[in-house]
Amino acid sequence: MNLLVTGGAGYIGSHTCVRLLEAGHDVTVIDNLCNSSPIALERVQELAGRSLRFVQGDIRNRADLDKAFEGGIDAVIHFAALKAVGESGEQPLAYFDNNIGGTITLMQAMEARGVTRLVFSSSATVYGQPDHVPVKEDAPLRVTNPYGRTKLVMEDLIRDWCASRPQLSAVLLRYFNPVGAHPSGRIGEDPRGVPNNLMPYVAQVAVGRRERLQVFGNDYPTPDGTGIRDYLHVMDLAEAHLKAVGYAAAHAGCEAFNLGTGRGYSVLELVRAFEAASGRAVPLDIVGRRAGDVAELTADPRKANAVLGWHAEHGIAAMCGDAWRFQQQAVAEE
Ligand code: NAD
Ligand code: UFG
Repeated sequence: MNLLVTGGAGYIGSHTCVRLLEAGHDVTVIDNLCNSSPIALERVQELAGRSLRFVQGDIRNRADLDKAFEGGIDAVIHFAALKAVGESGEQPLAYFDNNIGGTITLMQAMEARGVTRLVFSSSATVYGQPDHVPVKEDAPLRVTNPYGRTKLVMEDLIRDWCASRPQLSAVLLRYFNPVGAHPSGRIGEDPRGVPNNLMPYVAQVAVGRRERLQVFGNDYPTPDGTGIRDYLHVMDLAEAHLKAVGYAAAHAGCEAFNLGTGRGYSVLELVRAFEAASGRAVPLDIVGRRAGDVAELTADPRKANAVLGWHAEHGIAAMCGDAWRFQQQAVAEE
């Protein structure tokens, strides 16, 4: 297929583009590079041994989108969004504009071109504080921050759009905690500034870029008191997008899928796994809880297993080992 990937220069998008190219799809990326670099796209092409088409542009700009759609597109994979939970509380309007506004403009451009298939990056954040874990797709949806609100609103808008015509298909992928990197270490997650998320923070402490990890709370009702999450290797996530595009091509309608391993790890378990993978110590301090965090969030991935034929294959050792390889290369290139 000819695939348009919005946000394809970003962390998850770049790994997915490698997999799509390897599988023989033709790929156009539209990205405004607000949180990424064109170097990632050079590396995607090196790793896949094939080239892609890059349109530097903004999904809120219809002319940029129309350029991206030139030549015919069979399906869209939509990653482009702002994603920092804390920042979304300080600048909610920027999040509403970029994420919701961008998604509306994207759907308008798709409709104008007769493009009927959409795969959307949603998040486990749409479950808020769940009543039960592991969470199933039919659990109540709630939001705890403006970023989460944008994901929930975008899911609703896509579902309503999809219901307007029988030929439309949309796959809403609710990622749990994506981590790790391409096994080559050539692409990965290298956040600008202080990392918001646990794995990149741990990697930066291990490599010596930061002194100590702050563990946000050890008084949760979990076995060691620290928060439990369902970490998922980004290469497994890339594979899920390949399967989701195939599913969208074969089925009309809108379906949501959890993407996770189904297995949770605490903060301290993840730190130990990273120490084992890297051979480095990760010094840490226990500090107070971070506002908005939940004790435990894990996926019930059985719908994606059964319907998409997708299973997470990489364990925590590979997630940490690949993140470590990428982190070392990133520092060596500085
Ligand atoms: P990322 O920031 O690395 O990638 C997003 C990409 O979109 C970036 O390259 C950025 O430059 C681009 N972009 C943003 N706004 C744009 C716009 N208006 N026009 C064009 N390009 C734009 O983030 P990521 O971690 O790869 O996340 C990808 C998607 O997955 C996002 O929608 C995010 O909300 C979602 N998600 C991520 C996580 C996670 O933990 N990383 C978890 C759940 C869901
Ligand atoms: N944590 C620390 N120290 C840190 C960073 C995180 O102890 O420096 C802890 C958190 O308290 C949490 C766990 O590590 O218990 C994981 O935190 P992350 O920030 O890595 O991930 P979250 O589960 O908080 O957030 C992720 C995505 C969000 C999404 C959210 C809800 O990054 O985009 O899941 O599904 F909104």
